[in-house]
Amino acid sequence: MNKLTLAGIITIVIMLGATYLSVGLTKGGIGDDIVNQLAVAGAVILVIITVFVVIKYVRQMQTDTASGKLADENWDGIGEYKNELPAGWALMFLGTMIWGMWYFTVGYPVNAYSQIGEYNEDTAAHNAKFEAKYANMDDAMLVEMGESVFLAECKVCHGLTADGIDGKAANLNQRLEAVVVKDVLVNGSNNQLLGFEFPMPTGADLGLSASDIDEISAYVGNDLKGDQPAMFGVCAGCHGAEGEGLDGVGPQLNGFNNTLVTNVLTHGKKGAIGTMPKFADRLNETQIKAASAYVTSLSK
Ligand code: HEC
Ligand code: HEC
Repeated sequence: MNKLTLAGIITIVIMLGATYLSVGLTKGGIGDDIVNQLAVAGAVILVIITVFVVIKYVRQMQTDTASGKLADENWDGIGEYKNELPAGWALMFLGTMIWGMWYFTVGYPVNAYSQIGEYNEDTAAHNAKFEAKYANMDDAMLVEMGESVFLAECKVCHGLTADGIDGKAANLNQRLEAVVVKDVLVNGSNNQLLGFEFPMPTGADLGLSASDIDEISAYVGNDLKGDQPAMFGVCAGCHGAEGEGLDGVGPQLNGFNNTLVTNVLTHGKKGAIGTMPKFADRLNETQIKAASAYVTSLSK
């Protein structure tokens, strides 16, 4: 008996011994359950067959010599045979490609069920139900809902009473502070406050002097109360005679309105005080409408 066969027999004995120990030591052992008996018999047969197949191939590897016609190319002494691809390999390769196509299109199509898909569908369904339930709110209800949204999402920056916590965010009880107006007149503003790209020209573009800018900033920052500076006429062309805003031309300056706040919530805002994040993907349409109604109600 040569070494290889001996090693094979030792392997079989060890594996059968291990199987006997692990099965025999479990509670009840194999018992007289026919399924258990068949399973163990199958395992024994598999072990024996596997070991002998391995022995056969190891032996073949030891004695085999390659045959066939060599290709002309030669890489550092390593040549390549021009043998045909074995038919079994070629068939397996083709079969795998066909199976792959079947798997992607029929077996497990890309757009079939997925947990993320189910989550997205549930979220969409919930949002639709929410939108339908709150589609026809009156102003009082909107403001009430807006206050809840504000307490959940906006309070961290704007403060419990929306006064802006020491300049960390805009004071929403007042439309514009003088610093903000001055910043806009010095640097311009391009925040899509009207819902589309339409920048506010700088004071210099409008021909204002530094003192005009200070005077106008103080006036607008005081809610457009008191004597109107003569140069405010420059602003009135776009913002209205009293700063009430002109549709699509210039936003309202003497108070908040739903369109303005909705645009701020949708696009965010960068200004003298800091950056107001956009909430378009955090709040749904109804919540944005409600938050706008609440903010608008504050400065009235
Ligand atoms: C050509 C039209 C035009 C003129 C003239 C104009 N504005 Fe504007 N203004 C705009 C537009 C458009 C915006 C919105 C810009 C944006 O989306 O950021 C704006 C925005 C502003 C804002 C920012 C509002 C906010 O919420 O941040 C202030 C303040 C302002 N204007 C004040 C003035 C004053 C004061 C004058 C006069 C000196 C003036 N504007 C003249 C068109 C104009
Ligand atoms: C991360 C802090 C932060 C959060 C959260 C936040 N804001 Fe703001 N918000 C700001 C800052 C900063 C500004 C001032 C931007 C500027 O400099 O003009 C601002 C400005 C605004 C303005 C514009 C004021 C004006 O006169 O142009 C409105 C309206 C507003 N916020 C509403 C809200 C609402 C409603 C929420 C909640 C849904 C909210 N903000 C959440 C920081 C925040």
